[in-house]
Amino acid sequence: MKFSNSLFMHSPVDNKLPIRKTLEKEYSDYTSYIEDAYKFGQSHVFGWWSEITPSEKKSLLDQISSINFLLIKKLFNDAVLKTTQPRQGILIPPQVIAVPKHDTEKEIAERAKQIGENSLRKGEVAILTVAGGDGTRLGISGPKGTFPIAPISKKSIFQLHAEKIIAVQKRYNTRIPWYIMTSKNNDSATQNFFKSHKFFGLDSQQVCFFTQGMLPVVDLNGNLLMDSKSNIIMSPNGHGGVLVALKEKGILSDMKSRGIKNIFYHQIDNVLIKIADPIFIGYHVKDEAEISLKVVKKCHPEEKVGIVVYIDGHLHMIEYSELSRKDMYAKIEDGTLKYNAGNIAVHMIDIGFLEKVYQMEESLPYHAAMKKVPCLGEDGGMIDPKENNAIKFESFIFDILRYVKKSVIMEVLREDEFSPLKNMKGENSPASTRQDMINLFGRWLQNIGVSIPTDSHGNVMGLIEINPCFALDQEELRNKVDRYFQFHGNLSL
Ligand code: UD1
Repeated sequence: MKFSNSLFMHSPVDNKLPIRKTLEKEYSDYTSYIEDAYKFGQSHVFGWWSEITPSEKKSLLDQISSINFLLIKKLFNDAVLKTTQPRQGILIPPQVIAVPKHDTEKEIAERAKQIGENSLRKGEVAILTVAGGDGTRLGISGPKGTFPIAPISKKSIFQLHAEKIIAVQKRYNTRIPWYIMTSKNNDSATQNFFKSHKFFGLDSQQVCFFTQGMLPVVDLNGNLLMDSKSNIIMSPNGHGGVLVALKEKGILSDMKSRGIKNIFYHQIDNVLIKIADPIFIGYHVKDEAEISLKVVKKCHPEEKVGIVVYIDGHLHMIEYSELSRKDMYAKIEDGTLKYNAGNIAVHMIDIGFLEKVYQMEESLPYHAAMKKVPCLGEDGGMIDPKENNAIKFESFIFDILRYVKKSVIMEVLREDEFSPLKNMKGENSPASTRQDMINLFGRWLQNIGVSIPTDSHGNVMGLIEINPCFALDQEELRNKVDRYFQFHGNLSL
């Protein structure tokens, strides 16, 4: 980490700083916030005060009033000066429910499925999608959920999820509330997208948007960064922000008033997700688990997925960026990875457990990430950095795992359930996720006897897209397509 190069360290903007007392007198409602900005060494945010309009001044002060300067100072010190102790303890791989192979395992899964189906029929499950991230790696301007991903129709990720919800509702004759967490950066774009697509056929009343909190982005010396003379750069506070938002925005109470007992939690970007999978719900309900997790075997040691482990008897998720190389590459006798339970970020969360967490005094820790963030330079012009120049702070939902006493960890097949859209090219890109969707549909067809050509990598040659409302899974497809069906390279059902 570099400590030099602060944009504002000896900045000429200091010369232009308005006298603090005048500022406080003029905007007496904001006195304590202005005081804080000065006290915590962030007065450079007023550096262009004389150049900005009255409404810009008001908006800058509003932004300042939303910032907890003490927290930012602590987070910066923790991140850069390493004032917190690194994690200690021995990592133990968790027990997982393996993908069923034998009849007895299949029967157990079938029994879990019935429990899950019952819970769905009774309307006890809500879907919670976290979609507040900035999606910087993908490099698109709008929300990631609006990305046109389907192989033929090019429908969006949001539409894919919506159609899966519609299909599950139809199958179990139920109604599933869908809660979507956005951030200030993408909330209106997300809501407008839903409105302009008529909620993809869902009842607008069952879709509920709520925003997460934001935190300022700092430079490598802890100074707040700005992207205009009146705007401090703010970034979503991580999906851990969902915990506070669920409570503060009244979402949890809303869920309870609708009779919801468990939340099916997932990230926006996984195009193969089995939304409200009854087997997963069933295991979670049957074992009275507090939080349950789906995992896949990692495809290589450096794959960018978190791993699920036990440390000192407590469940933990260790993020890929925080796993040591030694643990990343550790193997067992048969040559497979020792820490191999890869997090696909699909969870069941018991509402009663969340309420217990709220009673605890502790809050989730923050993780710091170094980023390249375009920002205002000392001359008031924009800088497009070539190297990391900024630190973002995020809390992670899975840090509540340490409080969990009962959980189910269920292994699933990557090719059936996990293909996230993260990057524009290569691994986890639009091209790879589309191919994964095509391959999944191709396997369904092959398994019911339809001949589907594949190349030497096992990829289907051609395009296939199956609308979840036509067939949600292979079994449903079997009832609609027979084995004499001829595939001619392009199939949309
Ligand atoms: C994430 C997980 C990783 C997992 C992988 C699976 C984290 C920190 N890590 O990695 O353990 O193996 O997915 O694909 O989550 N989000 C918000 N608000 C925020 C930040 C993110 O809602 O403030 C949402 C995003 O919209 C997205 C999800 O959280 O749906 C994941 O964020 P992302 O940054 O893509 O996580 P990864 O690093 O890919």
